[in-house]
Amino acid sequence: MKYSIITLFPQIIQSYISESIIKKATERQLIDLEVIDLRNFTTLAHNQIDEYQYGGGRGMVIMADPVVKAIESVRTPTSFVILTTPQGRPWKQQDAKKYAKNYNHIIILCGHYEGFDERVLKYVDQEISIGDYVLTGGELPALVILDSITRLIPKVINQESHEQESFENNLLDYPVYTKPYDFRGDTVPDVLLSGHHANIQKYRDEQQLLVTLKKRPDLIDESKLNKVQIELLKK
Ligand code: ADE
Repeated sequence: MKYSIITLFPQIIQSYISESIIKKATERQLIDLEVIDLRNFTTLAHNQIDEYQYGGGRGMVIMADPVVKAIESVRTPTSFVILTTPQGRPWKQQDAKKYAKNYNHIIILCGHYEGFDERVLKYVDQEISIGDYVLTGGELPALVILDSITRLIPKVINQESHEQESFENNLLDYPVYTKPYDFRGDTVPDVLLSGHHANIQKYRDEQQLLVTLKKRPDLIDESKLNKVQIELLKK
């Protein structure tokens, strides 16, 4: 997967991608990342990229020309262009899966509080929001999107980690424990020490459902539950 991130704040993106799992994925050539500074695409003096808005009103607007030139500098026929904005489609785990599977080049245009000239949207395939709140810029959303897709790319993280993780089958993850057995009087559920794999699996399946019911009941889609799960819900 190749990502091209277009931003007015390349440092924010650089600082994140130069650490941790994303860095390793780049080093192992599982992903290819380029950060593009929007200011390199203006032809105006002083690196100007914004202007007063037509019709008046407070605030400036980022001009279409540098933005579209930046997109065109990296776009190929198979690229998919995302704009991060609170007006976009809400980003979900299912989307991360779909993008990891279906695309080989994702261009992420980081939104900006000043807003882009509306005509930029013709060059964008999908506007995406990471939640119903407003951030100062689209860099954090771009990193959220990049991170959530990248960890699903084969070999980036241990494959087993995906099988039981949150949002698989619309359920949250089961609780996990490590040493010590007794932490300030709070002990580990005994079934986990039993060595009985079937019972441990049963306990974890139940916990996934109970945890989801308690923390995120909105996620539970009864039509997707098996008989055992339906019985559990009735208890
Ligand atoms: N830019 C500012 N807020 C945002 C959000 N919630 N999602 C995506 N982009 C944004």
